[in-house]
Amino acid sequence: MALLGLVGPATFGASRPPVTGSGGAVSSDERLATEAGLEILRSGGNATDAAVAVALALAVVGPEAGNLGGGGFAVTRYPGTAREGISNVRFLDFREVAPAAAHRDMYLGADGKPDRDKSWNGPLAAGVPGSPTGLYELHRAQGALEWPQVVAPAIRLAEDGFPISRRTHDSLVEDQARLARFPETTAVWFDGDRPKTPGTVVKLPRLASTLRRYAELGPRALVIGEVAKSIVEISEKYGGILSLQDLESYLPTWREPVRYKAFGWQLAGADLPSSGAILMASSLWMMDRGGLPSTEPSSADRTHLMAEAWRRAFADRFLLGDPTTTGATASDLTEPAWLTDRWGSFDRQTATDSATVRLWSRVTRDAGAESADTTQISVIDKDGNAVSVTTTLNGLFGGALWVPGFGFLNNEMDDFAAAVQEPNEYGLVQGEANVVRPGKKMLSSMSPTVAWKSTDAGEEILVLGGRGGSRIPTGTMQVFVALAVDDAGLQQALDRPRVHHQWLPDAVYYEPDALSPETRAELERRGHRVDIKESIAQIQAVRMRADGSYEAAGDPRKGGGHGGVVDPIR
Ligand code: GLY
Repeated sequence: MALLGLVGPATFGASRPPVTGSGGAVSSDERLATEAGLEILRSGGNATDAAVAVALALAVVGPEAGNLGGGGFAVTRYPGTAREGISNVRFLDFREVAPAAAHRDMYLGADGKPDRDKSWNGPLAAGVPGSPTGLYELHRAQGALEWPQVVAPAIRLAEDGFPISRRTHDSLVEDQARLARFPETTAVWFDGDRPKTPGTVVKLPRLASTLRRYAELGPRALVIGEVAKSIVEISEKYGGILSLQDLESYLPTWREPVRYKAFGWQLAGADLPSSGAILMASSLWMMDRGGLPSTEPSSADRTHLMAEAWRRAFADRFLLGDPTTTGATASDLTEPAWLTDRWGSFDRQTATDSATVRLWSRVTRDAGAESADTTQISVIDKDGNAVSVTTTLNGLFGGALWVPGFGFLNNEMDDFAAAVQEPNEYGLVQGEANVVRPGKKMLSSMSPTVAWKSTDAGEEILVLGGRGGSRIPTGTMQVFVALAVDDAGLQQALDRPRVHHQWLPDAVYYEPDALSPETRAELERRGHRVDIKESIAQIQAVRMRADGSYEAAGDPRKGGGHGGVVDPIR
C-alpha cells in the first residue's frame, strides 16, 4: 500500500474535512437537496424515503440533471430484509424508453450521417420519462413514511423559492445558446437574455402545484391528464414524437443487480440497460489480477494497469444494449474464464493497441477460446439500509426544453447509437445491440453502487456513484480503489485526481495534477496516447464504518457536491 501523505497523489483543490455523524448520511450534488434528505432521515424516514426526497428536491433546485423528465437506476441493500429465496439487494430500472414512433434512422441527416442536433436538442431527443413512476415505485416498495411526506420538501422548495447555485448558474452559462432556443426555458431560467446569476431566488409555482398533485395522486398526476397533455403538446410544437400513450404505458422494472467481489468487498450495481456494473466488475477483476494493490496511486504502473483493464472492458461495451437486444450479458462478460483469456494479452510495459482488442463472442467462447449530466444520490440510514440512485437527463438540462409545470425533458435518445460505429457525445463507439428501436432502452454507463465488507468489528458499507457519462464507471472505480485498497479517507478519495480510458478513443485522459510530467512521459514511452481532461466524473459517496459511525462527502469538482450527516458527533 502507498504511504499516503508522503508519496500519495495530489488532491483536486483544497480538501474539505470529513463530515461524520452517528445516525445516517446523505450525499448529492446540491446542498439544499442533501438537506431535504437529512430532514427526512431526522423525521424517521429510511434510506429510500431520503433518496426519493433528494431526487425530487433535485428536480427543483438542480434542474441541469435533477428531473421528473428523465430516468435512472436505484440499487438498494436492506440488510434486515434477507429471507429464504429473497435477496436483500435490489435494482430498480426506471431508464427512459424510446417512444413508439421512434425508428432506427431517426437521427441521421440527409447525408446519412448522425445529425447531432436532432439527438441532442429539443424534444425529438427525448425518451419517455421514467422518473415519475420510478421514484414512486421505489418509495412504494421500500419507503417507511407516507408518500406526501417524501414529496413535501420539493414542494416547499418550488413554492417558497431557492437561490440558484453556482453550479446551476455555470451550467446555464455553458449551455446558454441551446437553452435560448426555447422561450419556455428562458422565461424561467434567464433574466432577459442572460442566465440567472448565483443567489437569485427562483420560485416555481406551477411545478409546486404539479408536485402537490403528485403527492396526492402519485404518477397519475403526471403521466395522464393535464400535465401529460402539456408535455405532448410542447413536444409536438418543437418536432418531438412523444405521445400520451407513451407516457401512460411506461413502467419501471425490478431486476437482479450485478453482484461481484473486489479487493475483499462485495458489490452490487446496475445491470443492463446500464453497462456500469458490468464495466466495474470486469475491470476490477482485471486490476486485481494485475496486482493493483502493490502499485502506487497516480504512478505509471497503476495508471497503465487501470487503462489496460478499462480498454478491454469498454471494448465489450460495444456489444451491449437493452436487455432484450444485447449481444452479451453480465454473466458472459464477467465469467472468470473469459476475463482470464482477456487479460492474457496484458503486457506490463507496453500499451495494447485498442484496434487489436477482440470482442467477446459466443462463437469464439464455444470454440474454447459522458457534458455528462446526471446526478448521484447516496444514502445510508441508521439501520444500515443503503440506497444508491443515479438519475439523469443525459446532457445538461436534457434537450434544453423546459415544460412549464413539469421540468426539462431529457435528451437520453443520444445514448443510443445513431449509427453503428459512429462516436456519440461521450466518444463512445457502439454496436447493433444499441440502435434505436421503439420501446427499447438506450445503453447507459450509470453506476449506482452499494459495497459492503464484514470485519471483526462489524460491517462496513459504502454507497457511491456519479455523473459523467462514460467516465462514471471509471470515476466510481477510482474512488472505490482509493477506499478499498489505499485506505484513503472518504473526502480524500473523492478529491484525488482521476484518469480515464474507454477503449476508443485510444487515449489515457487525465485531470490536471493526476499525473506528474515524469509519469506522463513514462506512459508515452509504454505506447499510450495521453491527453488532459478538465474533470473526470463527479462522485458522491457515503460510508458507514464498522463502529457505527457515518461519513458523507461531496465531490469538489464543478462547484462541489454536498455530503451531510444526521447527529453530527464532531
Ligand atoms: N446519460 C448518461 C448515461 O446514462 O450513461
